[in-house]
Amino acid sequence: MNLSAIILAAGEGSRMKSNLPKVMHKVAGKPLIWHVLHQLAKTIIEEQVVVIGENVKILTDYLHVEFGATRQAVQKEKLGTAHAVLSGLNKIHNKNNNVIILYGDTPFVRAETMERMNSLIDPQVALVTLGFIAKDPAKYGRFVLNKNDELEKIVEYLDASEKEREINLCNSGVLVINSSYLHLLREINNKNAKNEYYLTDLIQIAKQHNLKVKYLTVDETEVLGINNRSELAYAEEICQTLLRKNLLEAGVTLIDPKSVILSADTIIQQDCIIHPHVVFGPGVSVGSNVEIKSFSHIEGTEIKCGAVIGPFARIRPRSILGEDVRVGNFVEIKNSNIAQGTKINHLSYVGDSELGKNVNIGAGTITCNYDGYNKFKTNIEDEVFVGSNTSLIAPLQIGKGSIIAAGSVITKDVKQNTLAITRGEEKSYLGKAEVIRNKAKTQSIQFCNNSKKL
Ligand code: UD1
Ligand code: CA
Repeated sequence: MNLSAIILAAGEGSRMKSNLPKVMHKVAGKPLIWHVLHQLAKTIIEEQVVVIGENVKILTDYLHVEFGATRQAVQKEKLGTAHAVLSGLNKIHNKNNNVIILYGDTPFVRAETMERMNSLIDPQVALVTLGFIAKDPAKYGRFVLNKNDELEKIVEYLDASEKEREINLCNSGVLVINSSYLHLLREINNKNAKNEYYLTDLIQIAKQHNLKVKYLTVDETEVLGINNRSELAYAEEICQTLLRKNLLEAGVTLIDPKSVILSADTIIQQDCIIHPHVVFGPGVSVGSNVEIKSFSHIEGTEIKCGAVIGPFARIRPRSILGEDVRVGNFVEIKNSNIAQGTKINHLSYVGDSELGKNVNIGAGTITCNYDGYNKFKTNIEDEVFVGSNTSLIAPLQIGKGSIIAAGSVITKDVKQNTLAITRGEEKSYLGKAEVIRNKAKTQSIQFCNNSKKL
């Protein structure tokens, strides 16, 4: 049976102490809601609705841009999780699909778990819930089982008896509801300690209708919910550990795994070597046999096979580094396409540029791409040699095989196979160095004598 999804994300998230909606806070470089929707996309999902609060423009804009097909339902009053689900249900078109309920602040539930839950639905099973053994059950809802280990009800902490509070099998909140029994949601009332419409009451209601309910359990880390900054930091730790493990298993060497920071979407192919203290922001893909040396920061970039990057390289978004490219220390690259075999080894800035094959960029070369108002492009063709300490004032085209002399400030296009040089004339005065030194020494002695007199 196909799935529709309702993702609850209307809560205020007040414990984050933030102006940002909770689900827009990031783990491994991506908003919490991205993680949920990314896993969901790996299932047989047909349609999805995110239930949001009011005045969360940044979230609605993000969903439009990144997940255009995702519908949004605004829950104006926060009357509880069942009320939130009903708000979302209005926007589900195909009423024959089972519906999975997920929380926007519970980012690590795996696609495989969602599908296993869905596979347990049959005509007599009204719903499948997801539980976990909690180290610290705190305020979670508790699974109350009967003698046959069947789920009888979920009791919320505030409504639980002392005995029920001792239970450590807890409710993650994830639920798959059989499409035939969605109408039971309307039987939920708010007669409880919080006067909220609890989604968890659906279990007892299904039982009263002589329907079956089932549950699965997973490890606590998979259903980790994020309510404050400490939990966000813990989630980051869990996620980084998993991402590093995946890379190691895929044949990537991480010399000091703990010091490499990855994004949830980082792709690194086999036989790459990543040195300590490298940070991958979102949108990086790295081909095979690439070496990235320490203290490099890379985001939004494609790096092709055999490249060597760093140490201390900063590669900014919309860059492509071709095969066997070399980028050395204190080099910044932004929005640039660097073709095969090109070297930018020291102390340079390359922005808004196209560099051809086998170009050599000398130390201290700057593409001057910005006049304070507009950005301009620099285009350097194959086999060009740029000498050290050169300023390339964009817009600029440098023809194939040209040589730019060190120390030049280039403002005009350079044709193919041309030597371009702009320098002040060099003059030499034989013996003048000694004259200057002697004069300086005399001045220094006079200065010391005068100081002593004071
Ligand atoms: C809920 C469960 C509890 C479970 C726990 C797991 C209920 C009644 N309780 O409790 O059994 O152990 O999650 O974390 O379901 N939300 C809305 N609109 C609302 C209320 C909530 O969108 O009106 C969203 C929140 O943004 C959040 C999720 O639903 O993503 C859970 O809500 P929350 O208030 O945190 O539920 P808990 O009290 O933690
Ligand atoms: Ca919660």
